[in-house]
Amino acid sequence: MPRPLARIRLTGHGMPCPYRGHKLDKLIIKGGNKLSGNVTVSGSKNAALPIFVATILAPGVHEISNVPFLADINTTIKLLESLGAHVEGNGNVVKIDTSGIATHEATYDLVKTMRASVLVLGPLLSRFGIARVSLPGGCAIGARPIDQHLKGLKALGAEIHLAHGYVEAKAKQLKGARINFDVATVGGTEHLMMTAATAKGETVLENAAREPEIVDLAAMLTLMGAKIEGAGTDTIRIMGVTELGPVSYRVMPDRIEAGTFMIASAITGGDIKIHGMQLEHLDALTFKLQDAGADVTNKDGVVRVKGPRRIRSVNIKTRPYPGFPTDIQAQFMALMCVADGASVITENIFENRFMHVSELMRFGADITVDGKSATVKGIKKLSGAPVMATDLRASASLIIAGLAADNVSELSRIYHLDRGYETIERKLAALGADIQRVKA
Ligand code: EPU
Repeated sequence: MPRPLARIRLTGHGMPCPYRGHKLDKLIIKGGNKLSGNVTVSGSKNAALPIFVATILAPGVHEISNVPFLADINTTIKLLESLGAHVEGNGNVVKIDTSGIATHEATYDLVKTMRASVLVLGPLLSRFGIARVSLPGGCAIGARPIDQHLKGLKALGAEIHLAHGYVEAKAKQLKGARINFDVATVGGTEHLMMTAATAKGETVLENAAREPEIVDLAAMLTLMGAKIEGAGTDTIRIMGVTELGPVSYRVMPDRIEAGTFMIASAITGGDIKIHGMQLEHLDALTFKLQDAGADVTNKDGVVRVKGPRRIRSVNIKTRPYPGFPTDIQAQFMALMCVADGASVITENIFENRFMHVSELMRFGADITVDGKSATVKGIKKLSGAPVMATDLRASASLIIAGLAADNVSELSRIYHLDRGYETIERKLAALGADIQRVKA
């Protein structure tokens, strides 16, 4: 008999115990310390979210380990509970019992706080033949439509109807189909892969996204009994099975968190060792960091990043995986703010992902934005300032700038940060950064 688990305690602010954040908390950073020592990467937020959703497909008790304590994870738990699942947690292990799911509707309240909630549409449709999920609406970094998700579900035979801000989908039996995505979409690929797992016959996803989080989800689905080939390439074949079963699954490490620490070490001229990460997921960043003068080595799975005395300027263009990740663009821009020379940073994935620019300029950074590109002219030293987080990765970029700035910086609106970085200020403090959370 498995040991009963302590119930996850939700604090009113979406943080599971033991890590609790508050909307009005601030971070105070005194820059100038070189980072040194060891840090361990948490489980991946963007892998955990679809993995939690996939549990809907198989009634029973799933055990998901290496789950990061994050606000977005709590939102996903609330979403699953609102559908009728029973969720319990013990440390970073979460048990999800999906036998009691009886509702096929995800409301606006939950979907508006986290766009990934829309991924429940297909799995609910597969399980109940009907689903009603709120449309997510716009978002701070871009319009982020879900047309590719809906196009795919229609191809699988779903009748889709949009009314009153909701998507209603119906299908007696989903049927495999060939789906060619207009854009390589991470969420769309995950959504269709999950939904096709129990459709009748073969589904082929063409121009699929290739992110490691998709490979992680495919591994979990395969363990559940799905037949999937090609995850991690642009063509994924799914042979539908009649039934999937509950599983125990360990979430992959967070490559974006790992990349954020790599850049933090580089900007402070630090020397850190990162444990538990998979460097092969971060080739594009590693090459750029090496071009910028950092020393990156991998020994027995421990990645050491040594910052140079002066950072060299490097151009980057964000691209779908294996290109340079959009989720690390803001952090890399902070690094380029103190590089020797000018760099051009081009954002190709989202149309509005330069909101950190005006905040970085409060540190004295010299940045000019022209459409999709930002030209960053490196300066010798940033100067500490009060700044405001505008989205998750922008928050990380402002912390990185604060670590390299003189004097004290104060970062407010860090609830964005709590959505995606597990105890980042504690991890950075353990590496020698002078950073603390001031409770509201
Ligand atoms: N797009 C469409 N139509 C669609 C779907 C996407 O036009 O139906 C467009 C988007 O507007 C965007 C591009 O395609 O311009 C790529 O979007 P994608 O669907 O790949 O993004 P996502 O699945 O919504 C995930 C991550 C994001 C990350 C992107 C890109 C999760 C939960 N989110 O979003 O993570 O930036 O892939 O890699 O996995 C973050 O963690 O900070 C974050 C925003």
